[in-house]
Amino acid sequence: MEFEKLVVDNKAEFENALDNFCPDIILSDHSLPAFNSEKALQIAKEKLPHIPFILVTATVSEEFAVNVLKQGASDYILKTNIQRLPSSVTAALDKAKIVEEKLLTEIQLKYSHQQIRNLASHLQNIREEERSAMAREVHDELGQQLTAIKLDISWLTLKCVNADPDIIKKLQDMEKLITISLKTVKKIVTELHPAILDKLGIKDAICWQSHEFEKRTGIKIDISLVHGPIPVDSKTALALFRIYQESLTNIMKHANASMVKCSLNKTETELILQIEDDGDGFDENAGGYKQSLGLLGMKERAVVLGGELEIKSSPGKGTKIIVSMPF
Ligand SMILES: Nc1ncnc2c1ncn2[C@@H]1O[C@H](COP(=O)(O)OP(=O)(O)OP(=O)(O)O)[C@@H](O)[C@H]1O
Ligand SMILES: [Mg+2]
Repeated sequence: MEFEKLVVDNKAEFENALDNFCPDIILSDHSLPAFNSEKALQIAKEKLPHIPFILVTATVSEEFAVNVLKQGASDYILKTNIQRLPSSVTAALDKAKIVEEKLLTEIQLKYSHQQIRNLASHLQNIREEERSAMAREVHDELGQQLTAIKLDISWLTLKCVNADPDIIKKLQDMEKLITISLKTVKKIVTELHPAILDKLGIKDAICWQSHEFEKRTGIKIDISLVHGPIPVDSKTALALFRIYQESLTNIMKHANASMVKCSLNKTETELILQIEDDGDGFDENAGGYKQSLGLLGMKERAVVLGGELEIKSSPGKGTKIIVSMPF
C-alpha cells in the first residue's frame, strides 16, 4: 500500500489535519495524554462523516469496542492482532468508496431531477405566455376586423333598402355569419386564456369554469367558496385555475360521476382547493396512472409555487384532489 501519513496527538492538530491534510482514512489510538479516540471520532464524524475511522488500540473492553462501532467507527483492531490492519484498511476504503459513489449518484440524480423540474416549469410558463399573447392577438386583431366588417354590412344593408330582395337576403345571411364568427372568436380567446381570471380573480373564474362544465356534461357542481377577497398572486391563481380545469376534464373523461363538489378555503398561510367526485375512482397505489401527464402536471404546477397536491382515490369510491398553495 502506498500512502502519505500525518501523525497528530492533540485536538487542535487533529482538526487542522482534517481540514488541510484531508485524509482518506483515520487510524486512531485509544488514549493519549492530551486527546482520546472518543473525542477524535466525534470530531471526525462532524467534519468528515464519510471518512473511515479505525480504532487501533492495546486493550479496550468489548463493551467499549461495540460502543465505538455504534458511534460510527469502521473497525477496531487490537495491537496484538495488528496483522489484521491491512485488510481492515482495504475493506474500509472500499466501503467508503461505495458510499461516496452512492452519494455522488444521489446528488447527480437530485440535480437532474431539479433541472427537469425547472425545464417543465419554464415550458409551462412559455406555454401560458404564448396562449395569453395569442388570445390578445386574436381578440384585438381578428375581433376588431370582424366587428368592422359587421358594421360595414349594416351600413350596406341600410343603403340597400330598395335593392333586389336576393341582395338583401345575402347581406342578412352575411351579418348572421359574422355574428357567429365573433362568438367563435370570443370562445377561442377565453379558452386560450380566461380573461375573467385577470379581471375578476380566481373565485369568479372557478364559477365560470364550473358553469361551462355543467352546461357541457349536465353534472351539477356544488361550489363553496371562502368569503371575501383572496390575496393570491397571478401565478398562483393561474395554477389553481389550470388544476381545476384538468380535474374537471378528468372527471368528464374518466369518472362517470353524478355529482362534483368544489371548495376553496383559506387558512392564515394557505389557500386550499378541493375537488371531489362520486365517480368510479381509481387505484392511486397501482402506479399505472403515474405514466400519464395530467395528474403529474397538476402536481408540478403546485410544487413549483411551493404548494402541494394530494390525490385520494380508490375504485368505486370517487376521487378527491386537495391542493394547498401558500400566499
Ligand atoms: N376523477 C377521476 N376519476 C376516475 N379516474 C381518474 C380521475 N382522475 C384521474 N383518473 C385516472 O387516473 C389516470 C391518470 O390521469 P391523468 O390526468 O394523469 O391522465 P389522462 O387523463 O389519462 O391523460 P391526460 O394526460 O390527457 O390528462 C386516468 O387515466 C384515470 O384512469
Ligand atoms: Mg387527465
